[in-house]
Amino acid sequence: MSKTDLLLESNGLYTSYGRIPMLMDVSFRLREGEICAILGANGAGKTTLVKAILGMVKADKGTMTFEGEDITTMPTHKRVAKGIQVVSAETGTFPKMTVEKNLRLGAYNITDQKLLEERCEEAYESFPVLKERLHQKAGTLSGGERTMLAIARACINKPDLLIMDEPSLGLAPIVVDEVFRIVRKLNRENDMSIMLVEQNVVKSLGVSDYGYIIQKGQIIFEGNPDQINESGILDNPVMS
Ligand SMILES: Nc1ncnc2c1ncn2[C@@H]1O[C@H](COP(=O)(O)OP(=O)(O)O)[C@@H](O)[C@H]1O
Ligand SMILES: [Mg+2]
Repeated sequence: MSKTDLLLESNGLYTSYGRIPMLMDVSFRLREGEICAILGANGAGKTTLVKAILGMVKADKGTMTFEGEDITTMPTHKRVAKGIQVVSAETGTFPKMTVEKNLRLGAYNITDQKLLEERCEEAYESFPVLKERLHQKAGTLSGGERTMLAIARACINKPDLLIMDEPSLGLAPIVVDEVFRIVRKLNRENDMSIMLVEQNVVKSLGVSDYGYIIQKGQIIFEGNPDQINESGILDNPVMS
């Protein structure tokens, strides 16, 4: 596939919580091989959008397409099987299990033992900090290391699309830089398509190819990082 091929597309998506509308007329495109940022303040509807992509929140209206296939009503497990993986606070690590066990749990559907060992080795190469801590319980890791473990676990399946829901949340700025450096590396060296869902607008735009600004359940602006920076939309107080 060339860089211009669409991986994930949403057209006129609406969702609600009970009677309360949440996402309204949300349309976006994520191209194969790109890092696409979904940016917005707390409560803007970012996680709701992630859940809609996974099929955990239903679409009242509109469509969702993945790799050219309409997935609007597809159940979550089938979307995951198609190659969509999410890293979020909710999909966190198991604190009482070792780093190695956590990693292998992510690879539960890899039945070929040789392939599994290969994938684990690749994960240790990409995340050397994990290799040093294989037999340590995940609960004893630092916040940054736990985030790395969660990312490594999602990557072990080589997803076609990796969605990261606020990977920078709660991390020290220097650790955020390290996480974003890895996001960039996964994209550039492993050719992974990534949706980066973040409140940390400046740092996210620094690694992204394209971005959407979401506010109160609606996409209010889209463009490449330069267009977003120059638009003045980031001066909007609701973005901070
Ligand atoms: N399960 C739910 N039931 C009702 N309202 C919800 C639920 N989940 C989130 N919301 C509300 O939807 C809005 C958007 O939430 P969310 O998508 O989590 O925002 P973000 O991830 O951008 O912080 C918030 O006002 C939140 O309170
Ligand atoms: Mg959220």
